[in-house]
Amino acid sequence: TSTAHAVDERDRPLVVAHRGASAYAPENTLAAVDKAALMGFPWVENDVQRTKDGELVVLHDASLARTTNVEKVFPGRAPWNVRNFTAAEIRRLDAGSWFSSRYKGARVPTLEQYLNRVSRNHQKLVLEIKNPGLYPGIEKQTLKVLGNEGWLSPAHLRSRLVVQSFSADTVRTVHQLRPGVKTGFLGTPSVADLPKYAKFSDQINASHTTISRAYVAAIHSFDGPHDKPLEIFTWTVDDAAGARRVAGYDVDGIISNKPDVVRNATAE
Ligand code: G3P
Ligand code: CA
Repeated sequence: TSTAHAVDERDRPLVVAHRGASAYAPENTLAAVDKAALMGFPWVENDVQRTKDGELVVLHDASLARTTNVEKVFPGRAPWNVRNFTAAEIRRLDAGSWFSSRYKGARVPTLEQYLNRVSRNHQKLVLEIKNPGLYPGIEKQTLKVLGNEGWLSPAHLRSRLVVQSFSADTVRTVHQLRPGVKTGFLGTPSVADLPKYAKFSDQINASHTTISRAYVAAIHSFDGPHDKPLEIFTWTVDDAAGARRVAGYDVDGIISNKPDVVRNATAE
């Protein structure tokens, strides 16, 4: 067994810190990226959307209300959707206090800031293009920012980045614009439909509630667009029993708010 192979085996399944280490720091902030790094997790997941003035920012919900103090800072602007606020307005918001007073002053990061932090920490990214129907052209724009920040260079393209979405159109568009980028479709297509998805998606990232050993085996039986077997990163698994169950199905990755729980449960 080569060293590389041994490392691969020890790292399986990969554990991805969902929205950063989001059980321990406010989701989708730089603090959550740093927390994952401190805990020893190189892979993080995030969600990308767009502001009114066209800046890409990292936020899960269509609205800023749950994870910032926007209702207090901008009363009367319900439902506080990110697409109706400028980047300058969003910079004023506190994205940490809702989680804990320890994180007061954490900001909603721009995608650029986020990528720089992930790079600085030598981490890797599963980037989700969220609600693409609200943001025409966000696929091309996301790839442009990734390129500007050095994320699309052939040297590490396939080892440190996956771009995923619940929208098959978005995943297909990313694949067509930059075929070298590793992609993931979020969902659970029927086994009969997997070959269709395998034309543009390297991963089928299904909810843990929808998968079985047979489904994971079916995913692995098809080759993706780069002539390698399709992979599956399943989400969102936060308990030891669940982690052991999906690891037993031989998933390639587990996306978790509590990556430490998953790692402890799946370590030999
Ligand atoms: O990475 C998969 C997972 O993030 C998809 O669901 O709603 O947490 O973005 P959601
Ligand atoms: Ca997500």
